[in-house]
Amino acid sequence: MDYKQVVADTLAPALTDVLSAADIYQKIERPKDTSKGDYAFPAFTLAKTFKKAPQQIASDLVEKIDTSKFEKVEVAGPYLNFFLDKAAFSAQILGEVLTAGADYGQNQSGNNGNVPIDMSSPNIAKPISMGHLRSTVIGNSIAEILRKNGYNPIKDNHLGDWGTQFGKLITAYLKWGNEADVKKDPITNLVKYYVKFHKEDVEHPELDDEAREWFKKLEDGDEQARHLWSWFRDESLKAFKTIYDKLGVKFDTYNGEAFYNDKMQAVIDDLKQKGLLKESQGAQVVDLEKYNLNPALILKSDGASLYITRDIATAVYRENTYHPAMNLYVVGSEQMYYFKQLKAVLTEMGLPSAKNLHHIPFGLITVNGKKLSTRSGRIILLDAVLDDAIEMAQKQIAEKNPDLPNKDQVAKQVGVGAIIFGDLKNERMNSIDFNLAEQLKFEGETGPYVQYAHARAESILRKASDVTVPTSDAKISDPEAWETIKALADFPDVIVEALKEFEPSDVAKYAIRLAKAFNKYYAHSKILADDAEKPARLALVKSVSTVLKEALRLLGVEAPDEM
Ligand code: ARG
Repeated sequence: MDYKQVVADTLAPALTDVLSAADIYQKIERPKDTSKGDYAFPAFTLAKTFKKAPQQIASDLVEKIDTSKFEKVEVAGPYLNFFLDKAAFSAQILGEVLTAGADYGQNQSGNNGNVPIDMSSPNIAKPISMGHLRSTVIGNSIAEILRKNGYNPIKDNHLGDWGTQFGKLITAYLKWGNEADVKKDPITNLVKYYVKFHKEDVEHPELDDEAREWFKKLEDGDEQARHLWSWFRDESLKAFKTIYDKLGVKFDTYNGEAFYNDKMQAVIDDLKQKGLLKESQGAQVVDLEKYNLNPALILKSDGASLYITRDIATAVYRENTYHPAMNLYVVGSEQMYYFKQLKAVLTEMGLPSAKNLHHIPFGLITVNGKKLSTRSGRIILLDAVLDDAIEMAQKQIAEKNPDLPNKDQVAKQVGVGAIIFGDLKNERMNSIDFNLAEQLKFEGETGPYVQYAHARAESILRKASDVTVPTSDAKISDPEAWETIKALADFPDVIVEALKEFEPSDVAKYAIRLAKAFNKYYAHSKILADDAEKPARLALVKSVSTVLKEALRLLGVEAPDEM
């Protein structure tokens, strides 16, 4: 039930000639300070219309409206403040949550439309970096948020498995590499060859020519080149998959860049036919002057394709395969300009989904304020970070709850959850300075804090197992419960808002808010006291547990029942 609508409907008869119902709805505010009511109508916005003092307008209105649906309606200066009937409201909300269960907050606005999400997309033969972690967890959460809004997300890992760097890697491997080393520790050794290539080519620029030739061979299907490439790819993918398993993230497809190699000629032909390709110093470009962008380089002078060539083919493929309702790319903000160019080229080509293409950028992860990059060797291996987090969680559990069953499983859920939550609670455009110890704290705005509130609710419910929780008429008059009930009521709106901005942090912040409200309630109330409201209080606890678990699920974080 939309209580803002109830407020609007209450005001409407008194304002018939002045404001439409929709306008009234628009104006209604939610005071931050709940002592000022649950909803407020700013009467001062009508001062010109009525030619009266705002305070007078508010007093006149309160006389004219039917206030019976509210606990009270008060005039406070230029505002009209509405206080909800707590018992009726709580019965309504708790009934809704308990009836819907995990489906609470689900809406169908997406009409089951397909939404490919380009996410994670690490590069073969390089370690998956903390930056790829952000794309993985942000993309995974946006997929769940999409599903909760009735869309059908398709998680596509657009692996960087093609491009001139493979020419460099093959050149380097043939010069300095050996098979045994790659088999033993593929990523470390492949990175070593790649770094060495970049050191050597400063003094030996002829290495670059060799690399270019190898990439050309690869594109033309040369057997040795293909063999090495596919071996590097397999080994890298194995390493990536252990990390995805730890994170609990699954993909619907791993169509990397190479998948589009045989689909590029059609794109080039189409561009040519539409008169979009122009020659520039031997290379082929699409002019984007009317978008105020630099020309997009589509083919190099030697005929080699580029990152954008493959992305154009990818977008065309997704268009034909999925007829997408939206086309999403969760990629770091350093590629913002690039995605503007991509969208502009696709718009010029007349691709229908170009207008629904959204680049969803995010800020950098720094460690002690420093940027991470593969070439400089300043990389943090995500795998190691996850293991550290799990180990720290194990230590915490050993201290706090040594008798916990399934200790190892819970340590995984807490450690990995802390990393995911520590990322997603930040607005995605903000940079994050990485600090494992902070993210793993049980106090403060952390994943473990929210998980702990959920586990606490479950523990109460275990103690009260003899009580049946009513699904309707759970009236709670305790004012200490009010913040929690209102937070529960807000969940469906959070689902809608989070999608509008592609902002998982809305959900994470919401989870913190609900957990905080519940912890406060828990500290002030005797939930298990045997009195008439006990079943209603348990209904509240059950609702909190359900919604916290669901909010965490939308973030890709698990919620253990005990910790
Ligand atoms: N592999 C790229 C990188 O690590 C990201 C790919 C993003 N997706 C895309 N369709 N361009 O920078």
